[in-house]
Amino acid sequence: MSNPLLLVLRSLPILLLLISSSNGQASWTAAYAKAQQALSQLELADKVNILTGQGGSSRCIGNTSPVPSINFPGFCLEDSPLGVRLATNVSAFPPAINVASTFNRTLMRQRGEAMGAEFRGKGVNVALGPMMNLARAPAAGRNWEGFGADPFLSGEGAFETVTGLQSQGVQATAKHFVNNEQEHFRTTSSSDVDDRTQHELYTLPFLRSVQAGVAAVMCSYNQINSTYACENDKTLNGILKVEFGFQGYVMSDWGATHSTTPAILSGLDVTMPGSLVPGTNSSFFGTALISAVQNGSVPESRVDDMALRVLAAWYKLGQDSGYPPVNFDSHNNNAPDDEQVNVQGDHKVLIREIGKASTVLLKNVNNVLPFKQLKTIGIIGNGAGAAARGPNEFPDRQGDDGVLGMGWGSGTATYPYLVTPVDAITARAAEDGTTVSSSLSDTDLAAAAAVASDKDVALVFITADSGEGGGLVEGNAGDRNDLQAWHNGDTLVQQVAQFSANTIVVVNSVGPIVVEAWIEHPNVTAVVWSGLPGQEAGNAVTDVLFGAYNPSGRLPFTIGKSITDYAAQVIYTTTTPILQIPYSEGIFIDYRHFDAAGIAPRFEFGFGLSYTTFAYSGLSISGSPRGGQAPTGPGSSVDPWLHDPVVTVHFTVKNTGQVAGHEIPQLYVSLPASTNSPPRMLKGFDSVFVAPGGSQAVTLQLSRFDLAMWDVVEQRWQVPDEKIGISIGASSRDIRLSGSL
Ligand SMILES: *[C@@H]1O[C@H](CO)[C@@H](O)[C@H](O)[C@H]1NC(C)=O
Ligand SMILES: *[C@@H]1O[C@H](CO)[C@@H](O)[C@H](O)[C@H]1NC(C)=O
Ligand SMILES: *[C@@H]1O[C@H](CO)[C@@H](O)[C@H](O)[C@H]1NC(C)=O
Ligand SMILES: *[C@@H]1O[C@H](CO)[C@@H](O)[C@H](O)[C@H]1NC(C)=O
Ligand SMILES: *[C@@H]1O[C@H](CO)[C@@H](O)[C@H](O)[C@H]1NC(C)=O
Ligand SMILES: *[C@@H]1O[C@H](CO)[C@@H](O)[C@H](O)[C@H]1NC(C)=O
Repeated sequence: MSNPLLLVLRSLPILLLLISSSNGQASWTAAYAKAQQALSQLELADKVNILTGQGGSSRCIGNTSPVPSINFPGFCLEDSPLGVRLATNVSAFPPAINVASTFNRTLMRQRGEAMGAEFRGKGVNVALGPMMNLARAPAAGRNWEGFGADPFLSGEGAFETVTGLQSQGVQATAKHFVNNEQEHFRTTSSSDVDDRTQHELYTLPFLRSVQAGVAAVMCSYNQINSTYACENDKTLNGILKVEFGFQGYVMSDWGATHSTTPAILSGLDVTMPGSLVPGTNSSFFGTALISAVQNGSVPESRVDDMALRVLAAWYKLGQDSGYPPVNFDSHNNNAPDDEQVNVQGDHKVLIREIGKASTVLLKNVNNVLPFKQLKTIGIIGNGAGAAARGPNEFPDRQGDDGVLGMGWGSGTATYPYLVTPVDAITARAAEDGTTVSSSLSDTDLAAAAAVASDKDVALVFITADSGEGGGLVEGNAGDRNDLQAWHNGDTLVQQVAQFSANTIVVVNSVGPIVVEAWIEHPNVTAVVWSGLPGQEAGNAVTDVLFGAYNPSGRLPFTIGKSITDYAAQVIYTTTTPILQIPYSEGIFIDYRHFDAAGIAPRFEFGFGLSYTTFAYSGLSISGSPRGGQAPTGPGSSVDPWLHDPVVTVHFTVKNTGQVAGHEIPQLYVSLPASTNSPPRMLKGFDSVFVAPGGSQAVTLQLSRFDLAMWDVVEQRWQVPDEKIGISIGASSRDIRLSGSL
């Protein structure tokens, strides 16, 4: 073949041996040796079976075929990024958007480990997550499946989740590669993205996943620059396999393969679900791939490379011995499992921990929270209660009834139970002898007024939902139509606030909602952003309201005053067969845009209050990123030279209030004006526990990569020569300490 990338790729495993020692990829080496041994025993048809999905007839959402001669069982592939989908006796974890809100790597890792234990226990070889698309457009339907709007925070979430999942022997799948940033026209649109933006934003969480040793990457439905993501040579071969040195396999999203030879030569390794027509053997791989090899359009060496990648991933995760059998049937939806293996363990403890650590306190006038000696509580809103027909009322959660713990679509799991706020608050209030009354209707405004009146506090619950495209949910086709609260939530809040001088709003939402209708209402004394907390929703918010947990969550996106304040929007209509989506805002999404354009948000990225206060002092910065130059070519973007820490930042956080709690110090980098970069970019954070009156030393480290920009001309990462600003803040706009390099 004349494709130069293909020549590079054939020798890639050898090249990577040279750079794999200190970047988390060493475990591939031994796995490749075993895979090479197994491959030498296989016929072409066996290799092709390994690469071709079986077509949706088996028990998992996808399966590949066994090769008995090498004891290869074939894979069970299963959704989702928040738990095992379409199975019972599993947990419903908080979605990634809430995990991002914790700004806590320990919790990110522990969630990955717990989910990994559940996927493994159910016999799933390949977990179809984490999802790491960025929240480019605030109304995009699947934003909640990912880690928010910042590439660094998303990258840390991706790294910890992949590491956690794979620590249990489960293959993780980094998805959706790449630029799958809206649901409308997801299979008939082209995301047109410049090279710098691609490197600095959208592929960054995938780079971090590669550094975590991720087994699989899923290419997405959309086109990139008018070429489908699953046959895009530049993104799959060029960026992922060459620059990032990815040694696992690329699988298609379900139905995202569009060809045989072009897709395979561009870097696609596995096609899912395999068949073009359910129940048939027609496929772009399968017999079509065998013919393509026989007639010379796909070299057999490329098929060897594809099969090696899959087998190496299987060996790397240790799945060649003692892996549990599949013990659920995802095509039997919510019916009881055959074996009913319960994999939940004590994961509900962690789920509640993440739930409370992800709760963001946005407003708290005169410290009305936590509750103090209340006699009466009124609870208003459908979002505080149970769905009419239980938490799994809607298939794949395609509806919004009762407390909202996750969005809808394939990124879901079946709830084992869902703790409602009204139940959890009532139980907790009883301990204090506090009386609770409620109206769990969004439309009965008279009942809302009656419950709100004469109570010490009126809690009003509102929601906003979104998900994967498909049918309409309350008029929304996956993507939200706007950023308004659902079910006339603004009207409900205003009604309650008219009758209660102590109105506390609790929001369960997939992403930002515009709160301007009531945020400055004098009777709205507090706002608690509960996000999507998973199965322990009611307990988590109760822990925060009653002060059992001092809130430490931070917004992983900006809450703007208007949807038009955001840099990018979902495009809802088109007159062309392929909708062109120009990413003309470039690297300026979310807070990067608000900051650069001087737009005041309502609540900025990284914002969140505590029941205590913190003071920052004693900034010192040592080390230097200067000197030397990043390599180019294979593996260059994961080169240790780029990622080893070179700058150390110290400071002290003091708890100046009365209550113990976690502070989330954030490090923002300001590159020189000549780089045309956003005013501030998140490049570090921590979650530190400090007792009242106590101080805690914080150390954050920066690599050259954290201080670099992608040089489009040189095709390498470059650290600018001019002064680089370092800001330490409690949010992206609450900067407490500043220095420079
Ligand atoms: C898409 O086109 C832009 C503008 O020409 C270019 O910078 C970028 O590298 C292209 N990306 C891909 C994946 O082809
Ligand atoms: C598909 O291929 C498999 C393996 O060759 C064969 O056993 C099966 O009968 C085929 N199914 C159909 C519908 O052709
Ligand atoms: C080779 O086979 C593939 C798969 O059947 C087909 O798409 C392609 O057109 C063939 N190429 C040639 C040169 O015959
Ligand atoms: C598994 O789930 C089924 C259906 O929800 C339930 O009846 C059964 O009790 C569960 N089994 C275990 C061991 O929890
Ligand atoms: C605030 O609530 C009180 C009831 O406690 C009510 O009298 C007052 O009118 C409310 N204020 C506004 C601006 O609605
Ligand atoms: C993260 O959260 C856990 C649990 O709340 C807490 O113990 C820990 O201090 C937090 N910070 C880090 C860095 O782990």
